[in-house]
Amino acid sequence: MTNTFRSERRTDPLPEPLPSPPKQSGRSDLAIFPIRILGDPVLRMETKPVTDIDDTVRALVEDMIETMYYAPGVGLAANQIGVPRRIAVFDAHDELGPRVMINPELVETEGEIEFEEGCLSVPGRYWEITRPAFARVRAVDLEGQEVEYAGDGLLGRVLQHEIDHLHGRFLLDALPKRMRKKALKELRDEALGLT
Ligand code: NI
Repeated sequence: MTNTFRSERRTDPLPEPLPSPPKQSGRSDLAIFPIRILGDPVLRMETKPVTDIDDTVRALVEDMIETMYYAPGVGLAANQIGVPRRIAVFDAHDELGPRVMINPELVETEGEIEFEEGCLSVPGRYWEITRPAFARVRAVDLEGQEVEYAGDGLLGRVLQHEIDHLHGRFLLDALPKRMRKKALKELRDEALGLT
């Protein structure tokens, strides 16, 4: 999810190499990754679960949080920076602050609400999208402990949005078919310079 967009366009379908593990705590080599744009096949991939939370995963999560704030956005999935692993970060502007969810699963949803949604991979565009109002997610944190995130409002929305990314879906997939076709036509016309 996004407010504005400042990342360069990438069409290279090859995943970025994972960053090197930190040599010491308090890294001075945090990286900001280019964000993959709709049309990049990595955004349509089912991501692979993380089996070992090692230094490479910890460094990746730090870089994802840095990249999310730089963009700026309220959430980022690993495949949005070309790494098809089941990891997402978010900051829903609440007391939770920046959080990571590794191997997250949506375990409960409730209600329904229309909410203006954007995505760093579809820069500058927003749609009113109807989804469950409340979401509960179970995941693992960087210490390998099971964590649960639950809420409505922006938190409920970002949890669902990022988990969609990790399954190769993106926000327009949540629109009714006719609205999705219209939105895709608008994006195509815009890309062709017809608007
Ligand atoms: Ni997104």
